[in-house]
Amino acid sequence: MAEGAEHDVAGFSAYHNPVMVRECLEGLQLKSDGTYVDVTFGGGGHSQAILQHLSGGRLIAFDQDEDAKREAAKISHRSFTFCQSNFMHLKRYLKLNGVTQVDGILADLGISSHQIDVAERGFSTRWEGPLDMRMDRQNPTTAATILNDYREADLHRIFGMYGEVRNARTLAQLVVQHRAGNPFRNTIDLVNLLKTVAPRGKEFKYYAQVFQALRMEVNREMEALEEFLRQTAEVIRPGGRLVIMSYHSLEDRMVKNFMNTGKPFGELEKDFYGNPLRPFEMITRKPVEAGEEELKVNNRARSARLRIAERL
Ligand SMILES: C[S@@+](CC[C@H](N)C(=O)[O-])C[C@H]1O[C@@H](n2cnc3c(N)ncnc32)[C@H](O)[C@@H]1O
Repeated sequence: MAEGAEHDVAGFSAYHNPVMVRECLEGLQLKSDGTYVDVTFGGGGHSQAILQHLSGGRLIAFDQDEDAKREAAKISHRSFTFCQSNFMHLKRYLKLNGVTQVDGILADLGISSHQIDVAERGFSTRWEGPLDMRMDRQNPTTAATILNDYREADLHRIFGMYGEVRNARTLAQLVVQHRAGNPFRNTIDLVNLLKTVAPRGKEFKYYAQVFQALRMEVNREMEALEEFLRQTAEVIRPGGRLVIMSYHSLEDRMVKNFMNTGKPFGELEKDFYGNPLRPFEMITRKPVEAGEEELKVNNRARSARLRIAERL
């Protein structure tokens, strides 16, 4: 285990229980002297596991959250470098660290348990907190900005597309009516409003969907993923691996499209002779899901979809 780590033997930590660690490591096909990138450090569960396999190699980790930066500061392994940055700046930060080509990249998308568990971050439907939801606290847009300032049509789009909420139009109308006399300030203001339109018996699922939609908009998660994916083809060397875990169907679709075609929206490019020009070959025909044993101890693993591709 890397010096400074606070994970037990199964890799669990109070910050975040890492999902499908063995499957991710197998997907990366680690070489002890290889250069790897973990673009979603979080509590460092996957990074710690990668570092255990390196001697002479290098691991560069990214996370845009300053809490993750604090966790990363506990690792004193000499092969480890941390960049507090959005992974959409992958290429730029690798270059700043003298790296142009890597042997593998891991992404474990979304937010960590730590981010959900800290009420002041505003990610949790259960605790009262400010309507914040920023991973990067330099970001000027919070969930309150969206609820109080966005046009009704944009709210409708966000709730429908990112939250997959059935009554997105009704909810958008209700938000606009509510905020006229009463701006949204905290998570309880929002949950109280959601109670009035949530499907009976499925209230908590509904709250989670709406919170997820807001979080994805605040952090521009689909834009960041798209930008990141495009850069992976430029930095992974032939034979290198791209390993991505998603928790949302839109993300998984974009990852699948990209691994199959090299384009986030799936339009396959062909050369002059009509041969497909694809930078990656998908290794996992179907997404890998967590096994029964892991599901018993890590609820978060339930919605994880792991895809692996190799750079051609
Ligand atoms: C699911 S957690 C990763 C957990 C980690 N694998 C572990 O074992 O602890 C996702 C992390 O990625 C970070 N993150 C999400 N999107 C990001 C982005 N676009 N750029 C940088 N970090 C991001 C979040 O702040 C969060 O800490």
